[in-house]
Amino acid sequence: MGGQMIMDSKKVIYFYFIIALVLFSLQLPFGIYLASSYALSYPQWVVDLIPFSTARAVHTNLLVLWMLLGFMGGGYFIAMAEGGLNKIFSPFLALLQLIILFIAGVTGIIGFFFGWTQGRPLLELPFQMDLLVILGAVIFLLNITATMYRGWVQNRKFSAISFILLLGVIFTALLYIPGIFFYKNITMDWTAWWVVIHLWVEGSWELIASAVLAFLLAVLTGVDRKAINKWLYIEAGLVLFTGIVGIGHHFYWTGHPDYWLWIGASFSVLEPLPLLLMYWDAKRHLEHKPEFLSSLVGTLMFWSVVLHFIGAGVWGGFMTLPFVNYWTHGTQLTVSHGHLAFYGAFALLLFAVFYVLMSQFKGIKNLFEKRGVISFKIMTGSMIAMTLFFLMAGTIQVCLERIAGWSYVEAQEWMRWWMGFAAIAGAGFAAGAAIMVYDLFFLKEKSLNSK
Ligand code: HEM
Ligand code: HEM
Ligand SMILES: [Fe+2]
Repeated sequence: MGGQMIMDSKKVIYFYFIIALVLFSLQLPFGIYLASSYALSYPQWVVDLIPFSTARAVHTNLLVLWMLLGFMGGGYFIAMAEGGLNKIFSPFLALLQLIILFIAGVTGIIGFFFGWTQGRPLLELPFQMDLLVILGAVIFLLNITATMYRGWVQNRKFSAISFILLLGVIFTALLYIPGIFFYKNITMDWTAWWVVIHLWVEGSWELIASAVLAFLLAVLTGVDRKAINKWLYIEAGLVLFTGIVGIGHHFYWTGHPDYWLWIGASFSVLEPLPLLLMYWDAKRHLEHKPEFLSSLVGTLMFWSVVLHFIGAGVWGGFMTLPFVNYWTHGTQLTVSHGHLAFYGAFALLLFAVFYVLMSQFKGIKNLFEKRGVISFKIMTGSMIAMTLFFLMAGTIQVCLERIAGWSYVEAQEWMRWWMGFAAIAGAGFAAGAAIMVYDLFFLKEKSLNSK
């Protein structure tokens, strides 16, 4: 841009990933603190310093922020590559946008410690910070659209992948809007909250994830584009069809009319379908190149679609039926689902993106994968264990608190152990994550003598 500052698009995208990884690392100690504060009784001064609600807000907001930054960096790259370009429209604006979002996020998170929060889990950022987020989002939308437009004008290239990606990012930005306001009516407030959270993770993020997955499959496995596009459209169409009205599964007990029980249940039980297709599609295409399937990135992609289906489709599908949800609503079973779904659907996919692009940016042809594989195994094993421990705690909670009618605190007494195990599994996860983050920062070529 402008000539005075020559900035490499790849370098800017690299910064996105670095910041995303730093925020991801910071997310984890807060998770361990959360789980352990169910198991132990921390002294009051610790609780005063970091109240549970603050730690929870930090844990989940860092999650949303690092994932959004990861998708934005990946999105810029895809827009550029699919448009046949070697730079995005404006690397300068992309950097500016990164700085704006980073400042908004970090200021917001520090603010949580001083009680500066708007409430509503995952979207606690106060209004002033929301304005910064919107500024960042608008710059992103303009910049990525201009990049795609330039690809079209210069090279006549605008692929199905770019189209679904663009749709996903536009929806994501628009859906943020209802969540920035405060509603006096509590039903309205929760409705607005779910419009953001549900339609994000089960709608627009799902579109972005399917576009990213399709891009990686197309580029890395060399499968015919026509086949990839066909699947992409079917998945995206089904996601929208089932996911939009599937929002009803959050309107069962929040003061909405009864018909949501039927609407929510009928549409959301279909939600696993596109996820199953995504799994099937990715598996077939990955197997197209067996040596790739057994590589680090192939493994990350494969386990992403598997755990996406299990965590979101099976776990979520189980809780979505009103007669199940009546008993399980808002228990540790929900937490169990939330972790496996986020990890499978978005975290693993983003890790694949980080590995592919960061090693490409460093000019690495034959990546040294050992550390990556080890960290993948530790993280995934720990995450599965953690999900099972939350599941145990949740089952106890449902039996004692919901069915037997014990008080919340009495039931907690029996859940402590499992939450303690979750904290321990969480420490394992953090160790695996540390190896991965280190590995991504210091990627290297596979040397001849190191296998
Ligand atoms: C070090 C590992 C981690 C531990 C020990 C941990 C633990 C926890 C705990 C105890 C909660 C609060 C549950 C409650 O309010 O009762 C929580 C919330 C949450 N965490 Fe984690 N977490 C970890 C890593 C992660 C990762 C890697 C992700 C995403 C991929 C994640 C996503 C979430 C989400 C979405 C929530 C909100 C869940 C809900 O509202 O149901 N966490 N975490
Ligand atoms: C990648 C996709 C998904 C992610 C990341 C995800 C994540 C989450 C999270 C974090 C929550 C807890 C929110 C809170 O109360 O704080 C939640 C709740 C819920 N999810 Fe999902 N989810 C996904 C897909 C699905 C699917 C496909 C279904 C159904 C088929 C589903 C059904 C539910 C239900 C019914 C609840 C409410 C549970 C309750 O009443 O406590 N989810 N989800
Ligand atoms: Fe939902």
